[in-house]
This record gives sequence, structure tokens and C-alpha cells, in this order.
Amino acid sequence: MRVLVGVGGGIAAYKAAELVRALQKRGHDVQVVMTAAAIEFIQPLTFAALTGKKVITSLFSRDSATDTLSSAVEHIGVAQEHDVLLVAPATADILSKFAHGAADDFLTTVHLAFAGKVILAPAMNTVMWNHPAVQENLKVLATRGYSIVDPDEGWLACGTVGAGRLADPERIVEFLDSLHNKRRDLEGEQVLVTAGPTQEAIDPVRFISNRSSGKMGYAIANAAAQRGASVVLVSGPVAIPPPPNVELVSVHTAEEMRAAVMERLGAATIVIKNAAVADYHVSDIPKQKLKKTATRLSLELDPTPDILAELGQKKGDRLLIGFAAETDNLLDEARRKMTTKNCDMLVANQVNREGVGFEADRNEVDIVTRDGRVIHAGPADKSEIAERILDQVATLRLHLHASAPA
Ligand SMILES: Cc1cc2nc3c(=O)[nH]c(=O)nc-3n(C[C@H](O)[C@H](O)[C@H](O)COP(=O)(O)O)c2cc1C
Repeated sequence: MRVLVGVGGGIAAYKAAELVRALQKRGHDVQVVMTAAAIEFIQPLTFAALTGKKVITSLFSRDSATDTLSSAVEHIGVAQEHDVLLVAPATADILSKFAHGAADDFLTTVHLAFAGKVILAPAMNTVMWNHPAVQENLKVLATRGYSIVDPDEGWLACGTVGAGRLADPERIVEFLDSLHNKRRDLEGEQVLVTAGPTQEAIDPVRFISNRSSGKMGYAIANAAAQRGASVVLVSGPVAIPPPPNVELVSVHTAEEMRAAVMERLGAATIVIKNAAVADYHVSDIPKQKLKKTATRLSLELDPTPDILAELGQKKGDRLLIGFAAETDNLLDEARRKMTTKNCDMLVANQVNREGVGFEADRNEVDIVTRDGRVIHAGPADKSEIAERILDQVATLRLHLHASAPA
């Protein structure tokens, strides 16, 4: 792939050299653009030597022979010649400029002229990273479809420990490759995904539901299909389109969801139960609309079927992955649910945090496995969280295949 690497003016700029090497090792063709601040941290010569190409450092390039401004509209040509724009480190300043459409140097201008995939690998001090302005900018960029490779946690150059360290260059390259050359590690698998809320009628016009948007389950279904699986998506009512190459089964109530899941369970090798199924429903739904009166109205609710528990009982040798949306004691609840529901893996997300979880485009989860491992993922786009979950699913599947008698 032709990758345009933008280097921002952060302390991690030196790591961009390692990133360029890692990209080249995977066969990518790299052109480097540096901001003026980046040059304060690392010499363009380093990148020129690595890539064998002149590093672009200015919007107004000069013809060295005549010392006059070049007439070429270089930023448009460069934008058209590349498949991916990868910015690492993406400083707080670059995130702000990209979010607001600034065009005051080569990188920000080529960004506006660029129609391909944009990947941002931010790096900064933890307090800067957590600043609402930075987080707002990230949100804007994520909703535009930009991919954010979240920084790692660890020792930072400023002498503190926390989130903000540029993601490992290998991880950035892996992410870039996974976007364009999806692994087919779920080929041959039949994946059954449930997503969205359920709606439980109170009367012919009203219902009880919850705030699940379906975005996480849809991202998982999409990613599983791209990784080669045959996917059935059983979904409650949501406002998003189904992913391509996925068989959609639309349901409304918990009972309908149970029936649809059990009907398709036979063929499934992997079940990912992400739907936020109502726990209670009205058994005797009146035929007439309830009239408004001045007196208190009580609803008599009965428990809905526990789909995950039933799936656990009927598990056989298929993989069962559950979700736990909790507000407290996240990991304890996840472990408890994994055991009682006989799941192989539990994805736990805390739903009372701003910007992640229900309705949001981003998520932050702990993936708890049966062997006691906890893998933290995010905060990141739900599409990236879906990939991280499926990485664990594919690994589990591999172990199962490896340990099955020949
Ligand atoms: C020593 C030093 C280290 C810095 N490290 C970072 C950093 O890691 N991340 C960041 O967002 N800004 C960092 N900054 C601030 C940026 O350099 C500054 O915001 C600059 O305007 C960014 O320019 P850019 O848009 O070219 O990236 C640092 C500044 C200094 C002086």
C-alpha cells in the first residue's frame, strides 16, 4: 500500500522512524510528511535516508536550482497518490486541526485533500489526553470514520505513568494491515450474533425498551463476515443499516429473539450474545390502548426467558461469548456471569461512563476469558473493539481445534 506518514511535533516523533521501518518491512511504500514542530524533535534526514525520498516539510516547496517557489500543487497530487494517511504521533494540535478542518501547513492541507482512509495514532501526556477538548476532537474524528489507534499506558517521557504513550509501531502496522487486508481467520465458522435492544409491549402503542443502539453487535457481525465467517445477525429494532454479507433476522421482543436464536443455533459454531434483552415483559398485553387517568398506574411484569442461560445449557462444543453491561463491580460481575451462564468468554463494559458504551460510537471493555485472563480494549471505535474481541474468539477457536481429538 502507498502510505503517507504524517509526523507531528511530539516527543514520540522519533518512534515514527521505527514505524516507517515496520511499514517498509511489511511491503508498504512510504512517503513522510513532517510538521514544523516535528522537525524540532527529529531531522527530516532520518526519514529521507529510510525511505529514499525527499521528506515533505512545507506547503510552499522551493525549486532548489532557481530558489523560486515551485508551481506544482503538490498537496493535491500527494493526496491522490496515497491509499492511507497515517499520522504518528498525532499530537493534540493535529487532532484539533483535523477535527476543525485547518489547512495551515502541508499535513493539514493534504489531509483535507485526502479521500482515503485516515489512521491517527495519538501520543501525549495523560492529562492532555484526558482533556475534554482532546476527547471531543477524537469523538468528531471517529464519527467521520477515522481510525484511532489508542495510545498505550505506561511510562511517559514527562516522567508520569498513564495513558498517552504512542502505540507500539508493530501494533499500528498490524492495525493498518487489518483494515486493508482483513485476516480470514474465521473462515468456515458459522457465527450467530445478537444485537440491539428488545421492545416489550405495554399496550398496542407503547413499549418498554433500553438504550442499546446495536452499534457494538453490528460492528462484531461486520468484522466477523470480513474475517471469513458466515454470519447470522439476530437484531432488535435499531436505527442503523445491517452490514453487508450478513443474514439479518429482525425481531422485537425477547421471546421472538429467543425463538430466532434457538432456530438458528444448530448450525452455529460461535455464538456472540451482545443484545440487550429486556429482563421483564408484560404477559397480558391489553388489546386497547391504556387510557390516561389521574390515578397511579402499576404494571405487572414477568421475567423474560434467559437466552444466555439457555445457550449455556445447550452449548455443546460451540463457543459462547456473553456481554455484561454493568455500572458497578464490573469484573466480579463478569466472572460470575461467565460461570453461571457457562460462557467461554465475557465482554464486560461499564455503561455509566461518558462517551463509551450504550449509544456511543466508541467503547471500552474488559474481555474476560475462562482461563482467568483479562484483556482491556479501548477506549476505541466500536469497529476496533470488535476486532479485539474477535482476535480472542479466533484464538480460543484455534485452541479448541488444536485440542480436539484427530
Ligand atoms: C518537549 C516537548 C514535548 C512535547 N510532546 C508532545 C506530545 O507528546 N504530544 C503532543 O500532543 N504535544 C506535545 N508537545 C506540544 C507540541 O509540540 C505543540 O502542541 C505543537 O504545536 C504541535 O505541533 P504539530 O501540530 O506539528 O504536531 C510537546 C512540546 C514540547 C516542547
